[in-house]
Amino acid sequence: MTFPSINPTTTAAWKKLQDHFVEEQQHTLQEYFRADPQRFAHFSIKWEDFLVDLSKNNLTKKTLGLLEELANEVKLQQAMEAYFSGEKINVTENRAVLHTALRLPEDAQCYTNGLDVVPEVQAVKEKMYAFAQEVISGQHKGYAGKPITDVVNIGIGGSDLGPAMVTEALTFYKNHLNIHFVSNVEGDHVREVIKTLNPETTLFVIVSKTFTTQETLSNARTIRKWFLSHAPKEAVAQHFVAVSTNLEKIIEFGIHPDNVFPMKNWVGGRFSLWSSVGLSIVLAVGPKHFEALLQGAHQMDEHFRTAPFQENIPVVLALISVWYNNFYGAESEAIIPYTQYLRNLPAYLQQGIMESNGKGVDRNGNKIDYQTGTIIWGGSGTNAQHAFFQHIHQGTKRIPADFIGFKTSLYGEQEHQNKLLSNFLAQTEALMKGKSLEQATAELKEKGCSEDEINQLAPFKVFDGNKPTTTILIDQLTPNSLGKLIALYEQKIFVQGVLWNIYSYDQWGVELGKQLANTILSDIEGKSNHPHDSSTAGLLDQLS
Ligand code: F6P
Repeated sequence: MTFPSINPTTTAAWKKLQDHFVEEQQHTLQEYFRADPQRFAHFSIKWEDFLVDLSKNNLTKKTLGLLEELANEVKLQQAMEAYFSGEKINVTENRAVLHTALRLPEDAQCYTNGLDVVPEVQAVKEKMYAFAQEVISGQHKGYAGKPITDVVNIGIGGSDLGPAMVTEALTFYKNHLNIHFVSNVEGDHVREVIKTLNPETTLFVIVSKTFTTQETLSNARTIRKWFLSHAPKEAVAQHFVAVSTNLEKIIEFGIHPDNVFPMKNWVGGRFSLWSSVGLSIVLAVGPKHFEALLQGAHQMDEHFRTAPFQENIPVVLALISVWYNNFYGAESEAIIPYTQYLRNLPAYLQQGIMESNGKGVDRNGNKIDYQTGTIIWGGSGTNAQHAFFQHIHQGTKRIPADFIGFKTSLYGEQEHQNKLLSNFLAQTEALMKGKSLEQATAELKEKGCSEDEINQLAPFKVFDGNKPTTTILIDQLTPNSLGKLIALYEQKIFVQGVLWNIYSYDQWGVELGKQLANTILSDIEGKSNHPHDSSTAGLLDQLS
């Protein structure tokens, strides 16, 4: 089986979608709702504890049908089979893409390169769980004989964002360990974190798939130096563990081989929280909750693998995103979780989505002349309502937004929950309906404004409406539902990559900056004097 590489714009469906768009853009969401009182029932997907309401999107059944035709023409099904069967679909790095294998049940099998990866996945998990239990229970002692109280995850990108987002999302399920994250190469970041720590009771988890990343290694070295200014050399074994594919470099760094939690190169950094990269998560919430997270992700994988396209949540969300991106010309998508626990979800998804699908060359090596990856941004509701919502409501850009909410809160503060959910629903209703000039005028009249005042103010109080949103309503924020939610976006990324005919699992675009930073570092340190453009040279001068 081969991974297909079909330019979507050459398909018959693409042409039909272009014609369909010309027709459809004349209609508004309000019209759709007036025409079909059952629109919600006709455009929502109920799956387990998820309800996905697509009805407030600019689309009809015909749109979804044509988008499905597009998926079929670019051979989405064949691509999915290649992906799940361990084919090396990350062609430019010659690797399989198997983060889905990390959440398979113990008795499943998954082959790549002729080898079943499941036994090794289970073995690494068992090692993580045994270690985490010892730390959580206090059995694992620091060099002064005291139990561990604090854990510092040292990593960046996928080795930071996933563990940090999930650890925060699952705060309700957390144990007594305080988890910290050091990521930026900025010395002030690492200093601010270590200034609060007691070396006798702190565990450091160095996470780097490659173990060559400048930020992570610099922070790990600074922390080790600080640690050794308090503790004897032998203590490193009790306080430093590492996660990586690069065992040689870990040993070279001085980590005891027993303290290594390996990972495989078929796990992409931005999809790695399910692997040993999730060690900080296991330490924070314990193996039981981590298992539930994995199980939720596996359930979503199964749904994705087996549900017909039109009932398949990741597929439908990817198709709708392509509809807005490539036909409506929408450039960005907002992610608005209505819970503070998920306030870092947009930042996490920025890496997942933009590092994956921000590509300009297709799978045949040709420069692309159509739009690919969307820009992802967002923030938690209701806070975001008081920040950037003005722009979504009355700005000039079309910003499709995912509203993610939970029916039940965790502490049961019902009054708060009612207010939270009323805002959650009110926003998507307002974005869809808007407010007409007549309504704005009537409201001002009712307030007792004069004719002049009304004429002057009314235009500013108009909301066009017709702003698309997708509502993802989940029963409750649990490790299981969080696993499902993250996997949903992971699979949406895959589908979009297939539709756009790009390789989603490499990230060559981050390399040039890294190379130039090394050159400039040597200039800053006075070891060299490379020629630069006048801007860079002028700025460099300011630093000396
Ligand atoms: O620079 C981008 C990147 O390679 C990401 O893809 C990755 O998640 C991050 O750097 C960290 O890499 P590593 O885990 O190898 O330190």
